Amino acid sequence: MKIKDSYDRTIDYVRIAITDRCNLRCFYCMPAEGIPYEPKQHLLNYEEITRLLRILGEAGFKKVRFTGGEPFLRKDFIKLLENTHALGYYKSIHITTNGTLIQKHIPKLKALGITNINLSLDSLDKERFETITRRNDFEKVMASFNDLLAHGFNVKINAVIMNGVNTQDIIPLTQLAKHTRVSVRFIEEMPFNGGYKKVDDLFTAKNIYTTLKGHFQDLTPQVTAHGDTATVYKVSGLEGSIGIIPAFSRSFCNTCNRLRITSKGDIKTCLYDGGVFSIRDYLRSGASDAELEAKFKELIRLKPKDGFEAEQLRVKGNNATESMSTIGG
Ligand code: GTP
Ligand code: 5AD
Ligand code: SF4
Repeated sequence: MKIKDSYDRTIDYVRIAITDRCNLRCFYCMPAEGIPYEPKQHLLNYEEITRLLRILGEAGFKKVRFTGGEPFLRKDFIKLLENTHALGYYKSIHITTNGTLIQKHIPKLKALGITNINLSLDSLDKERFETITRRNDFEKVMASFNDLLAHGFNVKINAVIMNGVNTQDIIPLTQLAKHTRVSVRFIEEMPFNGGYKKVDDLFTAKNIYTTLKGHFQDLTPQVTAHGDTATVYKVSGLEGSIGIIPAFSRSFCNTCNRLRITSKGDIKTCLYDGGVFSIRDYLRSGASDAELEAKFKELIRLKPKDGFEAEQLRVKGNNATESMSTIGG
């Protein structure tokens, strides 16, 4: 079974932010003092998340990604992964993490058959890493990265590139792909930082491309999986690949396959919408499985054409500035 939206896009990838809490304070994601966290009872509990995943799986969803905040901060995250695995619907379970807390869980992840980990890493320079994340966990993240590779995980690196901050890291970061199959993805900064700063000097996907092209003459575009946000390139001499994600320019919306559930159970049919429905409140008011499935389908039918339309449809004053820690990227 397939769930389609009104633009004939098949929506079969769900991203769930399981917590709004994070142990880093990345400069592009939140102010130095952090963001006000939701009381724990406002977050979806594991039983609720597993139920929603079962309903979506029955309806044809094939891919799930757990994000946060930092997903490994939430107690018993491994239990949620086990429950999701046991549902049997998801061919692939993905995790996006900052890499500070994952290391001790690697054997268990491997045993569960989880193979795809996206790791945020914006600089290979310890000092700059600390300036960007406002914490000093560089060594921990690098140790996790190396351990994940040693255990055979498919690792993608997410690096948000910002003018005047870490453009000098683009080429050094590509070297991570030199001897391993890692995919290093450079991301345009989005305004999802809790509203404490404007992004007025965007380092665009085009700027990233020009920087890469200045160093590697042979960037060969690759065919990517349907719904991929990244334009991926192979370069001779690199075993892995390089990707560019035009997250702010939003040029990939025509193949979007995503539905999001935020940490407090709001549905986002687009990253740029303001949250279109509280599935938590609906579920807690006693909605049946059939009602929940019908609601998902109704919301997906109303999914906007692209991130620009989604932003325009926001309620006035509800600008696209919430911290990424509450959405999960
Ligand atoms: P794969 O499934 O491995 O391709 O990863 P992904 O790109 O879906 O997920 P990830 O969590 O690693 O996100 C990488 C970057 O892409 C982050 O900065 C996200 O915020 C951004 N991103 C992910 N999905 C979307 C989307 O639907 N729209 C936009 N504009 N950006 C997105
Ligand atoms: N703009 C672009 N990407 C962001 N991320 C977090 N905040 C932003 C932002 N404001 C990225 C992180 C993480 C992913 C889920 O989202 O790098 O890897
Ligand atoms: Fe934490 Fe991710 Fe936000 Fe950084 S981007 S503060 S790692 S949630």
